[in-house]
Amino acid sequence: MNHDVLLTLGYIAASVLFILSLRGLSSQETARKGNVYGMIGMAIAMAATLLHGAVSFYAFLIPAAAAGAVVGAFLAVRVAMTAMPELVALLHSFVGAAAVLVGMASYLGAGEHDAVHLVEVYIDIFIGAITFTGSIIAFLKLRGTLGGRPLLLPARHLLNLAMLVGSIALAVPFVGGEGDAGLVPMLVMTGIAGLLGIHMVMAIGGADMPVVVSLLNSYSGWTAAAAGFMLGNDLLIVTGALVGSSGAILSVIMCRAMNRSIWNVVFSGFGAAPPKKKSTEGEPQLEVQEIDVVGTVSELMAAKEVIIVPGYGMAVARAQHAVRDLTNLLRENGTNVRFGIHPVAGRLPGHMNVLLAEANIPYDIVLEMDELNDDFPETDVVLVIGANDIVNPAAQTDETSTIYGMPVLEVWNAKRTVMMKRGRAAGYAGIDNPLFYLENTRMLFGDAKATVDGLVTELRQQTQAEAA
Ligand code: TAP
Repeated sequence: MNHDVLLTLGYIAASVLFILSLRGLSSQETARKGNVYGMIGMAIAMAATLLHGAVSFYAFLIPAAAAGAVVGAFLAVRVAMTAMPELVALLHSFVGAAAVLVGMASYLGAGEHDAVHLVEVYIDIFIGAITFTGSIIAFLKLRGTLGGRPLLLPARHLLNLAMLVGSIALAVPFVGGEGDAGLVPMLVMTGIAGLLGIHMVMAIGGADMPVVVSLLNSYSGWTAAAAGFMLGNDLLIVTGALVGSSGAILSVIMCRAMNRSIWNVVFSGFGAAPPKKKSTEGEPQLEVQEIDVVGTVSELMAAKEVIIVPGYGMAVARAQHAVRDLTNLLRENGTNVRFGIHPVAGRLPGHMNVLLAEANIPYDIVLEMDELNDDFPETDVVLVIGANDIVNPAAQTDETSTIYGMPVLEVWNAKRTVMMKRGRAAGYAGIDNPLFYLENTRMLFGDAKATVDGLVTELRQQTQAEAA
């Protein structure tokens, strides 16, 4: 078979596999299969590229690819689930750096330039440089090396606009320059775009970084698509467009679930100062009703319908395995246990689903918010484990609340709600939660892991005592 035909077939197969991969990743049951499709697609894409007629320098390429694969595998095996956004941010920075380097090489390597090619090179380097520096800042913020507070320079929007306009203006001497005259404008634009990436991400609060990582994921896709046009490579165009659009869609889904717009996340400097609280001076401190482990177990043993709502605190405490043990014991007792998952529970998309899957909790009892929000009135006990904002009734009742309008799990409609957290601290949104003070709410204070372990031990004892 002709070499070019083989290459095209390889590219088509890889593109189809990438589409199947995205489709697989859209649901928990098929995610593993989706990952496998993605891996096969990438292996085919790499093999096809290595066999491309223009590729000759194998003595360098193969060791470089092998070293990259070893480092990647090492990092992926060692990374903790909670550090995943960090790793993803770092990987995006590589995409950005690669786009800049390939763009520059394409400019320097091709003797004659036509205007369309130069524009493609320019766009590729511009988005690549923003993605590179922006991702590094996101990585450092997620690691905690840089503080989470947004850097809000005066006239920062004007500064961004000036950098954008400056970069566009430099395209004129770049495209119009004779010979290598475009080199200087290209390097200056790369520097400006790099600064723009730094400044844009520095201005975003640390807690919004997951959305930013998803947004940078989208940028890295568009960079790859631009590189595809530049290099005349169809596979890069298709893959880049898939990554670019899926990243953009994910960013919008995350923002909607937080009741914020993408503009608000990127430009508002959210998290600069704690949200204004109404003055509570002189007002009596509201009373909460506490419950202990023994009391909670008695309620659980009497319950027929239980819903568990996990949140960020369950992830921090790494309580998912203890939660699985608790679930198994309750189910053995004939209790119907289900999990209610809010779309932005925790700090990254699918955070709770991944943790529950890791603990081998069956998928069919893990339900999305919309699937069980109407079932709370018939629920005997809701265990809210380290969640806060996602169960805050103020989202429906208090128009002045920063989360007003955000869809939430209506746990307060259940016969009993047990809130498991360490104290009365606020969650990510930094606001009070009226749920603590409701008549049918009980607070079970303590670290989620220690408390769930306590529940498991007590439940086991009470069940055995009952059986004896
Ligand atoms: P949060 O509202 O942040 O509440 C978590 C609660 O867990 C805290 O109030 C904290 O209270 C408690 N906690 C912390 N460590 C604990 C431990 N070791 N044991 C027990 N409890 C512990 O979390 P949520 O309800 O999951 O809501 C997620 C929030 O993050 C939303 O506001 C969402 O918009 C935002 N967000 C989500 C995402 C994604 S994609 N998921 C991205 C960005 C932002 P104590 O300190 O009193 O224990």
